[in-house]
Amino acid sequence: MSEKRENWGSKLGLILAMAGNAIGLGNFWRYPYQAAKNGGGAFMIPYFAALILLGIPLMLVEWNQGRYGGKYGHGTLGPMVYLQAREGANPKVARILGGLAGALALGVTVLLNSYYNHIIGWTLGYAFETATGGYMDKAINTGEYFVKYIQSPGKVMVFWLIALAVLGFAVMRGIQKGIEAWAKFMMPTIYVFGIILIIRTLTLGAPVKPEWTPIAGLNYIWSPRWQDLNWTAALAAAGQIFFTLSLGMGIIQNYASYLKPEDDIVLSGLATVSLNELAEVILGGTIAIPIAYTFLGPEGLGAGVGLSFIALPNIFRQMAGGQIFGTFWFLLLFFAGFTSAIAMYNYLVALLEEEAGVPRRVGAVLVFIIYIIFGLPVGLEPILTKTADLAYLTELDNWVGSYLLVVLGLLEVIVTGWLLGLKGLEEMNKGSFWKVSKTFYNVFIQFLTPVSIIILLGFSTRDYFKAGYFKWIPSFVEKTPQLVPWVLAARFVMFAVLIIGFIQAYRNIGKKYGQEIYEGR
Ligand code: PHE
Ligand code: NA
Repeated sequence: MSEKRENWGSKLGLILAMAGNAIGLGNFWRYPYQAAKNGGGAFMIPYFAALILLGIPLMLVEWNQGRYGGKYGHGTLGPMVYLQAREGANPKVARILGGLAGALALGVTVLLNSYYNHIIGWTLGYAFETATGGYMDKAINTGEYFVKYIQSPGKVMVFWLIALAVLGFAVMRGIQKGIEAWAKFMMPTIYVFGIILIIRTLTLGAPVKPEWTPIAGLNYIWSPRWQDLNWTAALAAAGQIFFTLSLGMGIIQNYASYLKPEDDIVLSGLATVSLNELAEVILGGTIAIPIAYTFLGPEGLGAGVGLSFIALPNIFRQMAGGQIFGTFWFLLLFFAGFTSAIAMYNYLVALLEEEAGVPRRVGAVLVFIIYIIFGLPVGLEPILTKTADLAYLTELDNWVGSYLLVVLGLLEVIVTGWLLGLKGLEEMNKGSFWKVSKTFYNVFIQFLTPVSIIILLGFSTRDYFKAGYFKWIPSFVEKTPQLVPWVLAARFVMFAVLIIGFIQAYRNIGKKYGQEIYEGR
């Protein structure tokens, strides 16, 4: 066992930090446009199915892996997965599984966060733009304004660096004084801003057309439309569950590794899910969508990614008090993104600390540099190519932010459910207020969850083929040849990080547990 690891200071702090981890841009920025794009009401059915089949079981699995690994002094996925896998598999096989898990988690924490940090920077920048009236002049086209924003180094790079520096500063202070303290301030603020925005939304009336009311907007997303139900909507819903609950990323495990061995995980894991879903379907769903519907009607919801940065700014300047509410909206996005990014940041600092002996303060600076290097292409692409396609970001998001999460989720549930087996059930229930029943464990964690993930992965792979993501030059950049090098660069970086991640985790497991691997246990 390694030197003393830090623990969470209080139950409330832990829950707020975990909620902060899960509640992110996924809730307020990604969810509304996913729901809108996939037919609103048609989205909610697979969404709740995925929550039950994948979200809740995987959340329990990840809390359990994290607390288990923490007992042995680990906050990263490689050794955590090894320790559970060796209970049911040959240690050499367990070591390979640990290597794969470590690689995928490194891929996510380095690469997903490298572009997520940029989006956080945009939210901070847009909070500033809104507060200072940057786009309030109605002659300005908010679409062009956004393009100009991401093409202007003086704006995009500066806010990105500020966001990164604050993150680094927070992580440097450790679990209790850093992560927990920031979550205690930011999470309640998110709910307060969210409630203020909901009240404003629901009192908008019908400023444009009598049938475009906020309530009609809510109806649009809440009335199930069975006829629109299809695989695309189901895949999007399952992907959203992974993303929004921070599953298949390694960061729930990292936070859970700072639990004490007898700390509850069942109730706390469920609390995390509930708080996230409240923030997603209630706050996320009752702000952006009804506002857009009220001003733009059902067509306006098709705005996709532009919903938060293009459609809403255009609306804020038309509505009474819009400048204040708009500032609240972007600050809310910033806080939500910040408390998620901090988890990824901490994963890498823990990796350096525990596996390379780098002290936390130094680690926090190194990770800052890593994020600058890996985030640079994301920011430079629009500036240098004068485009706004964000091809580098899109390529990373398609693979690391959507596909690989599911792969890692599958590996995790197989390791706990099948290799650790029933010991995993015993482990989960240790110190827990509510007990997971054996039936739930057998039916969900050992059967339905892995099987649904396999099906999900199968259909996703087919969709990726059809969408041309597997081609050397993926279809989405075929018409913009100047972006092809950016996509190829993204692929190169992805491969490099995954390979380095595998070697690193594999060697580290060998270093710590080599004896039992070679001599048997
Ligand atoms: N659960 C987070 C969200 O909803 C996902 C995430 C976590 C993304 C950490 C990036 C970094 O936004
Ligand atoms: Na979320």
